[in-house]
Amino acid sequence: MNYPSDGNETIPTDFDDVVQQVSTGSLAHQKIDELLHEAHERYSDVDDGLLAHYIPILGHADPDLFAIAMSHVGGSVHEVGDCQHEFSIQSIAKMFVYALVVQEHGREVVRERIGVNNTGMPFNSVMAVELNNGHPMNPMVNAGAIATTEMIPGRTSAKKWENVRAGLSAFAGRQLTLDDDVYASESESNERNKAVGRLLKSYRRIEGDPLAAVDVYTRQCSLNVTAYDLAVMGATLADGGVNPVTGQRVVDADVCRDTLAAVATSGLYEHSGDWLFEIGIPAKSGVSGGIVAIAPGKGAIGAFSPPLDIAGNSVKAQLAIGHLSRAMGLNLFASAPEKSLLAKAGRG
Ligand code: DON
Repeated sequence: MNYPSDGNETIPTDFDDVVQQVSTGSLAHQKIDELLHEAHERYSDVDDGLLAHYIPILGHADPDLFAIAMSHVGGSVHEVGDCQHEFSIQSIAKMFVYALVVQEHGREVVRERIGVNNTGMPFNSVMAVELNNGHPMNPMVNAGAIATTEMIPGRTSAKKWENVRAGLSAFAGRQLTLDDDVYASESESNERNKAVGRLLKSYRRIEGDPLAAVDVYTRQCSLNVTAYDLAVMGATLADGGVNPVTGQRVVDADVCRDTLAAVATSGLYEHSGDWLFEIGIPAKSGVSGGIVAIAPGKGAIGAFSPPLDIAGNSVKAQLAIGHLSRAMGLNLFASAPEKSLLAKAGRG
């Protein structure tokens, strides 16, 4: 084994010829509204966390906004709180842009260029790039996301941006619009992302103009969404790539599977391990306070509350999703003994 890693090592995978079966169960959804209200009421008064001041305009957000929405793969969307309030999607865009890029280029090309392993470092880390010989390691951190955005089809930045917006709008099932004020604020304060872009270019991980890639990335972060949108966008990944509300196929089912695996490794950055341990479903956060969590084959929860923890993840959104994951049995790692076996053993 060579150290430092070049980011391309992987686990043995000698099972390509085995047919992929899907076993996800279904969501017991009769009580979704009740459970959403319960979670909203329970965490409304939590006032931990800080606003993301490093993007100046995000420091002016209303810390009391709180929304939880859930979209079922059957097409119903449930909401409580400020679910129609628009906020910039920020890092949550990374997950959907990654899916579009994997759809376009195929999983192996993107895995080789970007990687799928957790960096163990903050989302805007320069050191993570240096420690890995310029390999971005993961599409959910800024370095990997900037390099991923560059892979969106389009000969010009304008065309790439158009494709990003159209793709994310298809996930949402409505035309998403740019928040000009957020885009301006972030463009004036994103020296670190520009440095990351140039560093990637120096390692030839970006082919074109690194500042153009950072600009499209900054625009994608500035797209406005609601918690309702996040739930529908996430549910499209939970539904094998078909938007459950519009019925439109956005990406292939295999792309959803690969995207959710990458999100599981670092959707909540250096807290991703703790998140999987406690909550057990892939989730992606953004510094404006949104989180979307996906239960494959069942649905997705979009939650929004601006104050963040130290890793940049919304405090109340984490609590609400954690509550719902437990109450609805969404944890992918949880199981219970098969009843018939218990009965046979006289323990049923
Ligand atoms: O590039 C940035 O720093 C922001 N536009 C996005 C970061 C972000 O959302 C991290 N998420 N928790």
